[in-house]
Amino acid sequence: MKISLGTDHAGFAIKGKVSDFLKSLGHEVTDYGTNSSESCDYPDFAYKVALDVSENKSQKGVLICGTGIGMVIAANKVPNIRAGICWNKETAQLIAMHNNANIICLGARFASLEEICERIKIFLETKFEERHSKRINKITEIEQKYCNCKSIK
Ligand code: RB5
Repeated sequence: MKISLGTDHAGFAIKGKVSDFLKSLGHEVTDYGTNSSESCDYPDFAYKVALDVSENKSQKGVLICGTGIGMVIAANKVPNIRAGICWNKETAQLIAMHNNANIICLGARFASLEEICERIKIFLETKFEERHSKRINKITEIEQKYCNCKSIK
């Protein structure tokens, strides 16, 4: 599938390896940076990745900052985005299975490269369980109250 990837400086050191890992799984990666370890602002990268996913240019997004928290807050401001943060394998599975997340956010300062890759793989391989649709639809209703946007499936 098509995946958009973004990190800030805290995630930069592992970005190339994460991109290679995604490609090794057969995915097509759009890399939005950052491209150095120089301090930068995570919302810039969250926005680019979220916009791709929101407009269906990518099916999924991967965002990495120090904690994952800044990225998840910023990405969820974009219509059609359900960005989820995960801190272990179980939550990586649950953001897909229960929340139908289309972006995974991770904290490079709190997990190893191996853990991060493992969580991304689980997230990408896990299917949404339709029995949770009613709750997801309620999230979409909230979103539509406050923005002029078309929904994507
Ligand atoms: C950058 O120092 C740090 O604030 C950022 O990577 C992230 O953790 C924010 O949520």
